[in-house]
Amino acid sequence: MTINYEFGSDNHSGVHPDIIKAINSVNVGYSVAYGDDEYTARAVKKFKEHFGKDIDVYFVGNGTAANILGLKSVTDSFNSIFCAETAHMNVHECCGPEKFTGCKLTVIPTPDGKLTVDMLKPYIVGFGDPHMAQPKVISITQATECGTVYTKQEIKNISDFAHKKKMLLHMDGARLCNAAASLNVDLATLTKDAGVDVLSFGGTKNGMMFGDAVVFFDKGLSKNFEFIRKQGMHLTSKMRFISAQFEALLSNNLWLKNAKHANDMAQVLYKEVKELPKIKITQKVQVNAVFAALPKNIITNIQKKYGFHIFDEQKSVVRWMCSFNTTKKEIMDFAKAIKEAVI
Ligand SMILES: Cc1ncc(COP(=O)(O)O)c(C=O)c1O
Repeated sequence: MTINYEFGSDNHSGVHPDIIKAINSVNVGYSVAYGDDEYTARAVKKFKEHFGKDIDVYFVGNGTAANILGLKSVTDSFNSIFCAETAHMNVHECCGPEKFTGCKLTVIPTPDGKLTVDMLKPYIVGFGDPHMAQPKVISITQATECGTVYTKQEIKNISDFAHKKKMLLHMDGARLCNAAASLNVDLATLTKDAGVDVLSFGGTKNGMMFGDAVVFFDKGLSKNFEFIRKQGMHLTSKMRFISAQFEALLSNNLWLKNAKHANDMAQVLYKEVKELPKIKITQKVQVNAVFAALPKNIITNIQKKYGFHIFDEQKSVVRWMCSFNTTKKEIMDFAKAIKEAVI
């Protein structure tokens, strides 16, 4: 029997045709390697159009590298980094952040993937005490790993708190585009304008083939990044093939169209399944994911036809995720399979 992977993750999708076109368009002749090329300059210009001209931006191969190398460039090994327990950097980066930064990762339980100042306060202690890791970075994920979003004000509350403590705010924006589409705001509103210092900006989950970016909103923070990226093995020699993708993603609102479509499809799926017996939707559906609790035997039955991830084994919660190319028919077929399994 065929297993369908449409709802496993937004990186189970293919690549948007405009991105393929952009890759093809730079696949001509020769170009200087390692990012000293005109296409990379053009992509950087696009980032500046969206995020403001006073940024430094660097491209890397994937989101894990963006997180780890971005954090590495703003920390010392005696620092601590604070994130939600559900953060990708805590759960799914194979303790890469700890290995490469040497920092202590302090994780904080949340009901929905979102940190607040009140949650953070009890953990952020020990300043100046040589026996304790020195608090340096708060990392939030936007949209969160639970499919929820921070408003601009919620981010601002955390960045104000961080800055008062002389700390920095890092954002894992693997799905920043989905969050911005959900809140109907531009990309700067949820980052630069909200006090984010370092951003991992995701491309792969929003229609690119590969590639993520590290954006520094304070140029002083990026002074060693070139070296850290090279040591960290993410100075891609044929950089133009990442750059061309970013230029296309950030042109003609492609970032927004892709993210909005993925979000809209999750709403369709949510409406199809929310009233079904034996299913409890466990998180607000704010971006492109639906989280649902359902009995294990039913999960197993659905997984005979559809591949998707179990988010929380203990609570029997699954994650169904839509992407830029999810179709309504795929949703209706999937919803039918779910209905058959629960009724
Ligand atoms: C929130 C978040 N951050 C970072 C990443 C890392 O991306 P990659 O798999 O490209 O390293 C992912 C990937 O699933 C993610 O969901």
